[in-house]
Amino acid sequence: MKHIAILASGTGTNAENIIRYFSNDKKAKVTLVLSNKPQAMVLERAAALGVDAFFFDRDQFYNTGEVLMMLRRRETDLVVLAGFLWLVPVELIHAFRGRIINIHPALLPQFGGKGMYGEKVHRAVLESGCTESGITIHYVNEYYDAGDIIFQARCPVLPGDDADTLAQRVHALEYEHFPKVISQLISNL
Ligand code: GAR
Repeated sequence: MKHIAILASGTGTNAENIIRYFSNDKKAKVTLVLSNKPQAMVLERAAALGVDAFFFDRDQFYNTGEVLMMLRRRETDLVVLAGFLWLVPVELIHAFRGRIINIHPALLPQFGGKGMYGEKVHRAVLESGCTESGITIHYVNEYYDAGDIIFQARCPVLPGDDADTLAQRVHALEYEHFPKVISQLISNL
């Protein structure tokens, strides 16, 4: 059985979707959810589904190595960022090279980088006049949203869209594809 850990900063609908998807899987399960926000809904969602969920602070992430230790102690095979805001420290990337992935709610390399998160991304897409958006699942490296792309899926930007309606369309793509891509990666580990 492979162990998946999820890092998330916010609502956690993707985290919940992934937990549910793997709850009856024979190859893998989500064993740990970690958040840098103490009040993040993702912690409640995970705990309600019986997954261990903890808050960590900046010091535990960047200085003391406690987050890395926690991931190792759980024998984590794959680290999944699902709406996670902080830049991942280089030690963690090296420890999980090729085994740490992120989802971004647009078609990278456009509309990525520091501060490009959630609604902000959708607003930038709308302001650009692009007629298409989508999702990008990619490996995590030392820079924001810049690791090798694993998978993309597209959706239209429709006339009359606002950040909410576009976010809903993009979320639907995330729910459909993210667990499947994770499953595929797990099979190759
Ligand atoms: C998701 O749409 C994810 O792609 C995005 O945050 C949202 C989290 O939603 N991630 C980023 O913007 C990363 N730059 P959720 O908490 O409901 O899963």
